[in-house]
Amino acid sequence: MDSLSGLGSQKAETPVNPEDDHHGVVLGPHVEDPMHVGPNSRSTRRAISLTWQDVWVTVRVDENGCVPILQGLTGFARPGEVLAIMGPSGCGKSTFLDALAGRLDSKRRLSGQILVNGRKEPLAYGTSAYVTQDDVLTSTLTVKEAVYFSAQLQLPDTMPLSEKKQRAEATINEMGLHDAAGTRIGGWGNKGLSNGQRRRVSICMEILTRPKLLFLDEPTSGLDSTASYYVMRRIVGLAKQHDMTVLASVHQPSSEVFGLFHNLCLLSQGRTVYFGPSGKAPKFFSLNGFPCPRMQNPSDHYLRTINTDFDEDIDPGLGGKPRTREVNKVLVESYKSSNCYRLIQQQIYDIHEMDDMEVHEKERRACFFTQFLVLTTRSFMNMYRDLGYYWMRLLTYVVIALSLGTVFYRIGSDYYSIQARGSLITFVASFLTIMAIGGFPSFVEDLKVFERERLNGHYGSGAFVLANTLSSVPFLLMISLIPGAITYYLVGLQGELGHFLYFATTLFACMMLVESLMMIVASVVPSFLMGLTAGSGIQGLMILGGGFFRLPNDLPMVFWRYPLYYLSFNKYAFHGMFKNEFEGLKFPGDPASMAQNGPISGENVLKNTWQVETRYSKWTDLAILFEMVVVYRLIFFGVLKTTETLKPVVKEIMSAWRKQKGRDTVNPARASSPESEGNKASALGWVWTRKTNGGHLHFESALRGVGI
Ligand SMILES: Nc1ncnc2c1ncn2[C@@H]1O[C@H](COP(=O)(O)OP(=O)(O)OP(=O)(O)O)[C@@H](O)[C@H]1O
Ligand SMILES: [Mg+2]
Repeated sequence: MDSLSGLGSQKAETPVNPEDDHHGVVLGPHVEDPMHVGPNSRSTRRAISLTWQDVWVTVRVDENGCVPILQGLTGFARPGEVLAIMGPSGCGKSTFLDALAGRLDSKRRLSGQILVNGRKEPLAYGTSAYVTQDDVLTSTLTVKEAVYFSAQLQLPDTMPLSEKKQRAEATINEMGLHDAAGTRIGGWGNKGLSNGQRRRVSICMEILTRPKLLFLDEPTSGLDSTASYYVMRRIVGLAKQHDMTVLASVHQPSSEVFGLFHNLCLLSQGRTVYFGPSGKAPKFFSLNGFPCPRMQNPSDHYLRTINTDFDEDIDPGLGGKPRTREVNKVLVESYKSSNCYRLIQQQIYDIHEMDDMEVHEKERRACFFTQFLVLTTRSFMNMYRDLGYYWMRLLTYVVIALSLGTVFYRIGSDYYSIQARGSLITFVASFLTIMAIGGFPSFVEDLKVFERERLNGHYGSGAFVLANTLSSVPFLLMISLIPGAITYYLVGLQGELGHFLYFATTLFACMMLVESLMMIVASVVPSFLMGLTAGSGIQGLMILGGGFFRLPNDLPMVFWRYPLYYLSFNKYAFHGMFKNEFEGLKFPGDPASMAQNGPISGENVLKNTWQVETRYSKWTDLAILFEMVVVYRLIFFGVLKTTETLKPVVKEIMSAWRKQKGRDTVNPARASSPESEGNKASALGWVWTRKTNGGHLHFESALRGVGI
């Protein structure tokens, strides 16, 4: 143990196990009963125990290699307790929470075993609540509205509205937000709540239903020490009162806040430096030669001891080597050889033995109809208040409508008005509708909020799609009718009201189609800029293949005619509007032509000039447009639903395939290092068997050689 020399102010001869003087029982100061999870305990009846063993997360950096983010983590979280996950920035806290919550993205790969009540169950979509590090909130709502809407969405219909309101208000008060209750949340470009207040709003929404499993990523970030204390105290209180299992990553808690945690998981560079009762951590550090100086906050001390990011700035230790990496190595090794580590495994075994209850989606939530109504109201409110959603578009459309009105003012009915009418109608049905992509940033924000709420099980995709469609209808009607009327009457198209209403309805259908298309794009394409580019690209193709810029008979057969011409909604919009305008009109012949030519009928223009399909009426074109709206919305719903149901299945298949091919990317160090925890566990004689009788998991541990 020479490597320890001089590393700590009170160096111990050998790394010492903190539990040695407790006869091998892991007892935290805050944990009254180490067998809290006993079979008769009330807490185990409906609660969730989470265990993880030898969890590795790696990220592929190039073709040849992957980098480990988490390295062989083992531990548990139990009902009624709060587990604090601490460590320097970048040590893997968020990744760890993502891994446990089943929310790793496709770039990061997981190996190891994560069990919920002793069972292998997917956690995402509705079984747990997760407050992520970034706050994704609807910026136009006030705190009170946001939390109240959330309460109506999540709490069951059997609960009276007054009680839901009361719960929302009480939660707002508990999070110290009563003074900010009437303030709009705000976001990019419109300042509202402070970051700390936004954090607390996010927490409010997730604790409304008292979820059995709660992940909190940095719940106290941006909060002063007093606010942090009260927020954490309330969370600890809720955990105890409702048998909630809480895992919270925290940055530098004050000593008061630190004292609230039951267990501590201290990470450094993805490895466990310490896992156990938080009250035992000082002893662990002290016995290994790094005692917390008097009057110093213990969490400050731990983080300073294990933070390797600033090794270069620290006075070089022995032989000029950076000190912190060595300190970490010592602590990690010491922890792995401690009784504490072995007892954690024993406790995991105990949890597996007694918890064998299935975890279902959060049972208590509002019915589909309530969710649909609440979401429609919330979405309408957001669209109404967000200037960028529709109001800016209305303004732009009015300006363009006035411009069109002046450019084509009093179009008349001479021969040359045939071409002018065609150009005007095409412009309206293509370029005016393509501008609906201006609302794309707002769609993306909506989708982010939806994604967060869906993952936390607040409501389903169906309610969201329906509500989003319905709430946009009044605004789309407004932006089709007002600019439509300005253009229509300034230009002087066919004067009857029926013709104008057809024109405006077609414009409305086109706007709905473009919005639906952009929604599909936003749900498929991950980034905002890529979405904008992809959306406008698709629409560009559709306009080009719509049969105006190149007449239908001249379109190349492959791709452009079949299938694009028939799939492009612009084709039906052009044809419907052309029929609406030209049918019944008569134009004089071409004055430039030498040949004797009489008046030309509108029907003739449709057939010969624009090559419009006149086998069916303009109403069929309109009906096809509305059918397309339904199909696009169904595709949007399908994409959301597929992501929800197929993603976990694809993940499982890919992981099984990689394993079979021997390409499961656990840390390469694991293969080379016999000291890795996974290997060590098997070296110590841990034997896992999974019997299939009734889905019950049996874990046989033969602690050969370790004396437990
Ligand atoms: N998809 C990814 N691709 C590459 N590296 C990643 C990816 N996700 C995480 N990492 C890396 O993994 C490490 C851990 O990241 P993580 O966000 O979990 O840290 P953290 O402890 O939560 O940090 P903080 O306290 O700053 O939030 C970081 O070094 C990060 O750069
Ligand atoms: Mg983080």
